[in-house]
Amino acid sequence: MRFFRVKLAAITGAALLVAACSQSGTPQPEEGVGTDANWTAPQGGFDEASYSRLEQIEPGNIGELGLAWYMDLPEEVTLESTPLAIDGTLYFAGGYAEVYALDAKTGKQLWKFDPRTWERRSDKFHFGSNRGIAYEDGRIFTVEMDGTVDALDAKTGEVLWSSQSIPEGPAFQFSNSTGAPRVMNGKVIIGNGGADAGARGFVTAFDTKTGEMAWRFFTVPGSPEQNAGDPAMEAAAKTWAPDFWKTTGGGGTVWNGMTFDEEANRIYIGVGNAGPYDPELRSPGDGDNLYTAGIVALDADTGKYIWHYQQNPRDSWDYKAAPNIVLATLNLDGEPKKVLMHAPTNGFFYVLDRDTGKLLNTPGKTTFINWATGVDMETGRPIENENIRYETGLTKIWPGTIGGHDWQAMSYSPRTGLVYIPIHQIGTMFSRDLADQTDDAVNIMGLVVKPIAEQPGDGKGYLVAWDPVEQKEVWSVTHDEVWNGGTLATASGLVFQGTADGYFSAYRATDGEKLWRFDAGLGIIAAPMSYSVDGKQYVSILVGWGGTSAAMSEFLDVGWKYGAQKRRILTFALEGDIKLPASAPRDMKVYALDDPELVIDEGDVLAGKGLSLACMSCHGAGFRGAGSPGPDLRESAISLRLDTFTQMLRDGRLEKGMPQYSWLSEDQIRQLHAYIRARARESLGKREPYDPDKARELAKASAE
Ligand code: HEC
Repeated sequence: MRFFRVKLAAITGAALLVAACSQSGTPQPEEGVGTDANWTAPQGGFDEASYSRLEQIEPGNIGELGLAWYMDLPEEVTLESTPLAIDGTLYFAGGYAEVYALDAKTGKQLWKFDPRTWERRSDKFHFGSNRGIAYEDGRIFTVEMDGTVDALDAKTGEVLWSSQSIPEGPAFQFSNSTGAPRVMNGKVIIGNGGADAGARGFVTAFDTKTGEMAWRFFTVPGSPEQNAGDPAMEAAAKTWAPDFWKTTGGGGTVWNGMTFDEEANRIYIGVGNAGPYDPELRSPGDGDNLYTAGIVALDADTGKYIWHYQQNPRDSWDYKAAPNIVLATLNLDGEPKKVLMHAPTNGFFYVLDRDTGKLLNTPGKTTFINWATGVDMETGRPIENENIRYETGLTKIWPGTIGGHDWQAMSYSPRTGLVYIPIHQIGTMFSRDLADQTDDAVNIMGLVVKPIAEQPGDGKGYLVAWDPVEQKEVWSVTHDEVWNGGTLATASGLVFQGTADGYFSAYRATDGEKLWRFDAGLGIIAAPMSYSVDGKQYVSILVGWGGTSAAMSEFLDVGWKYGAQKRRILTFALEGDIKLPASAPRDMKVYALDDPELVIDEGDVLAGKGLSLACMSCHGAGFRGAGSPGPDLRESAISLRLDTFTQMLRDGRLEKGMPQYSWLSEDQIRQLHAYIRARARESLGKREPYDPDKARELAKASAE
């Protein structure tokens, strides 16, 4: 009997090995990849690989993984950051750049820092999200929405210095910081967002000890005087219309991915989309619009340009290189090569030579792509399809503006040789005809943009295991919903990911088999991390569905309502046995209110739709608020009456993230109110939704 069992085990083992070899990628050099006990940067360490070398929690014992501790976060809504673990303390960012420090073993709060940005700069509150913090040498760095960088004493939370990273001026009016800063041997670097509104992109580095500004690099050129004498800006200016800077900052904001290459003392920055999206408004005819939608390598000491690789020359579809940039060594053609791996929103997977920025193999397609057939290895440029820049009118593009792969971190395991990418499949409709602005569309600087789900597999999320050497998918798992969290890979052969439907799951890294799941009671968009204290391994994740993208369309509505479910941090360990109190279930119903007496003016409704762009990031496109960082205003009693609605806009509720709107006129407030009332009636079935064809007919009739 004993003999038989051993033999069986040997056979199963061999069979598993064969299966593993046929299904997973080729193991790659492990040197220097990932983290051990501590997790010191948003994606683990400098390499941004979201890879833990810890092996205590493994496929054989994952059944015993349970909740070790949790903490409710009643002041939070959207949670996107990944905690850091430093010598037994866990640090993470709340939605408004607050920093929490907890005992990593027990979850007991040690201190909390709240910058209360709203007291100073409520005008910079365009979003309620923050993607994390950085750590170096006893200091924690957090960046507020208005661009203020705060250095905190990691022991006490005391502010050591504060510096402002966003200058004044029209090109920076819409700049705001939501990304995580990174450290690079004595400097902390931060970018910002705002490209969609035409903000001019740049990154700024500060001395970590003094807070003094060390250097700044612009990703988009400025006026001829500003560019003079700077070769990187002079070269870039040739790819834009000569006077573009008089009308737009150009976009190219750096709001997420930045990776420090310690060995080369370089920082690779992921540059965002151009703004406005329509290239004819930036440089009529042609022009690549450097350095938007690509990666730029800079000297970490001086901020001087080294190389760039533009993934989307003359970007027209809000594509961005914002997703995390992973460093590793790959065996390519039998030779170890120091590479940078990147899966931007445009759907391709890029493996670049870190020294030159050149492609090392032919980019593969991680999802459905219709804007290009491939990438030319000679020139590095995409091979684009015809008529994709809305030349023929309304144009549908895949991947859509939220990717492909977006800011939710991908991870890389050198053991399996695979990259684990959270993929979202959804398209975007673009139109220059403003009549096409249905209620789930937005008019972004003269272009109507709307998420669409029309292709097979649209509206779903995928966990894709990608072989970067072969440039192909090895396995994938389909999630019911789009817009899921980032991933964590461990040396023990596990991949962790939280999903929009409220589960936190672990998969076998070689074949994607689901081995474990936990009901977190609320959708997850953040990425997990792992650390150990006193020889015990933990896995931690923030649970806080929200964010602007979650509010963009019905395909992203998964039924989580403002304030209905608790925001939390969850920490797991083997034999953890804490039970989580039950959450309110998902609820797709809209409990709209209506005042049947109110006569709605149709002109006001149309004008209100235009104005609602100001509220969209928190209350949803067309005020379809479910899942967004603010409440659904169709259900709001305050929004029922014009007087209480007006009062709310004038006063705001700043400490909760609701801005003050002193700039809205009485007419504009009435128009917004009318639009909300119309939208509420539509959801009650008492009114027909806006129809673009009818709008065109009416416009034509009134013109005749
Ligand atoms: C930066 C995010 C943000 C933006 C932008 C924003 N809001 Fe809000 N709003 C909130 C949050 C969060 C709340 C809920 C505050 C609370 O919990 O009391 C709120 C609450 C409200 C309420 C009260 C709802 C109720 O019944 O309690 C109204 C009305 C409102 N917002 C209208 C607007 C309008 C109109 C705009 C655009 C002009 C707008 N908001 C823009 C975040 C935002």
